[in-house]
Amino acid sequence: MAIGLTRIELEVLASNEPAIAFYKKHDFELEGLKRESRYIDGKYDDVAFMALLIDSPMRTMHIQTKNLKLVPHTPEDVRIHIERLNAEQIANLPPDWLAHVRVAKGADPWMLGFALVHRFTDVVIGMCGFNALPEADGIVEISYGIEPEHQGNGYATEAAEALVAYAFSGDQVRMIRAHTFSETNASARVLSKCGFRLVGEVWDPKDGMVWRWERYKEKA
Ligand SMILES: CC(C)(COP(=O)(O)OP(=O)(O)OC[C@H]1O[C@@H](n2cnc3c(N)ncnc32)[C@H](O)[C@@H]1OP(=O)(O)O)[C@@H](O)C(=O)NCCC(=O)NCCS
Repeated sequence: MAIGLTRIELEVLASNEPAIAFYKKHDFELEGLKRESRYIDGKYDDVAFMALLIDSPMRTMHIQTKNLKLVPHTPEDVRIHIERLNAEQIANLPPDWLAHVRVAKGADPWMLGFALVHRFTDVVIGMCGFNALPEADGIVEISYGIEPEHQGNGYATEAAEALVAYAFSGDQVRMIRAHTFSETNASARVLSKCGFRLVGEVWDPKDGMVWRWERYKEKA
């Protein structure tokens, strides 16, 4: 029976990280903090608001591969991730992207990327995404990272293939680009397994000389 339930809300102490992690695992999103609003045992604590949107596209839209779910990051996921970075790491992030994240309201695969969640264990094993919206000339760049303890299982290859399929599924993208350090390494191998071609070396202000890889959309 449809009862029209669209939203479930809850409050939890912000210091209760295991509870917050548990609710997030079940698709609740962190919507905000009420600062120092609970007084327990002689000290104040922040209270976090969380909500689950029933049948929200954010909940249901994910890409599935053999072993992984690519679950779109919410803006809150990304903001929490940025808060954990040190000043030097934050300084290396593109200012335009940071400004976008500050005001973003919903999941946006092009700008905010995906968490890589193992389909059978529900463990987050890495992240992947596009570096920006496709450019006017139909080019978009991908990147990915797998937690060290989960490397060597083909997950980056699955994630990169899924990004390629996602990007080429519409009309916006005609070519996908990626960069690796100028050496034969795991990332270079992932790209060549996914049909990318090494086209040369370019200068990156952050990483120095890097290899540029490209894959074009096949003509229908
Ligand atoms: C690069 C990275 C994403 C690879 O993740 P992964 O899940 O281990 O990758 P896969 O298992 O799908 O594939 C790795 C491939 O590289 C090969 N490989 C591993 N180390 C290698 C090396 N030093 N040189 C050459 N090939 C290597 C593996 O044998 C495997 O190839 P195979 O399937 O033919 O055996 C992971 O190492 C990582 O997160 N590194 C740090 C971040 C990074 O470099 N990101 C890429 C930015 S675009």
